[in-house]
Amino acid sequence: MVKFSSIPRLPIAPLDTPVERCERLQRAVAGMPEIYVKHDDYIGSLVWGNKVRKLEYCYAEAQRLGADTLITCGGIQSNHARITAQTARRFGFEVVLVLNGVIPAKPTANLLINSKMSVKIYYVSSRQERSVKMQVVQEELEKSGKKVYAIPLGASDEIGSLGFVKAMEELHNQEEAMGLRFDYLFHGSSSGGTQAGLEVGKRLFGVNAQIIGVSADNSVAEIRGEIMAAAGPIQERLKMRDLINPDEIRVETGFIGPGYGIPSDQSLEAEKIFADTEGILLDQTYTAKAAAALIAYARKGLFKPTDRVLFWHTGGLINLFQ
Ligand SMILES: Cc1ncc(COP(=O)(O)O)c(C=O)c1O
Repeated sequence: MVKFSSIPRLPIAPLDTPVERCERLQRAVAGMPEIYVKHDDYIGSLVWGNKVRKLEYCYAEAQRLGADTLITCGGIQSNHARITAQTARRFGFEVVLVLNGVIPAKPTANLLINSKMSVKIYYVSSRQERSVKMQVVQEELEKSGKKVYAIPLGASDEIGSLGFVKAMEELHNQEEAMGLRFDYLFHGSSSGGTQAGLEVGKRLFGVNAQIIGVSADNSVAEIRGEIMAAAGPIQERLKMRDLINPDEIRVETGFIGPGYGIPSDQSLEAEKIFADTEGILLDQTYTAKAAAALIAYARKGLFKPTDRVLFWHTGGLINLFQ
């Protein structure tokens, strides 16, 4: 059996992010019980956010396998791809990205940062083309003598998801220190790795909270499938007894609105409520959609007055500069 603490990781930034109670937010929303925010938006410089947690494990694995080049993919404004390009340098990796979408005349947000670094980017027109292109580019790089480690979309495999297993250990320690237990945990979900790690970590470290992954784009079946594909090998590696039953995984798809990255009336309202009450900024791709779900659950009376709810702010704030 592998002990979780023995799995290698390469630290990138201080990760013990604060959990803060938000009384003004609680008062502003009918039906909202005690609400707390876990601030992964405070990780690192230039709003790195949740992806740093995953990359620490990916880099350790890439190093173990002797890689000198990393290849990964995402949408044109992918936080994950840009954060990989930005943070891999200091470990000596070269980075190659495959991004889908239309290249704007003037690069903004994540694309602007990519343009400041000599990162090689291949553009494709659709999501479906990304993995095929990654494969082709990886083969070309290997033919030219590079040792390539491929990080899948969002680093949401059994390596990257370990970052959120560790994050759950961190939350468990914070619960102990604060003398409380959370009943619900809301966060933005898309490629499933964040939720996979949280679900495994919840069982490994004994956190009670019901996790609600709020989809930014994908269906329940897709996200559950990704979660199980990432979580299965981790559970196996750690020889866990308390295994995830796919039916227990809660994915909320009612707040995608007009589509991925496109604001909805509810997500715009959520952004305003968080900013006006607590000065907490949200992005319109992930965190505002998750906050919209949280607010709607409160208004619908789905929480008990005694519940404690945690909103896991996953970052992504660079997208405010699109
Ligand atoms: C800011 C932010 N929040 C949440 C997510 C969703 O995480 P996952 O893809 O692991 O489901 C992402 C993914 O890109 C993200 O960038």
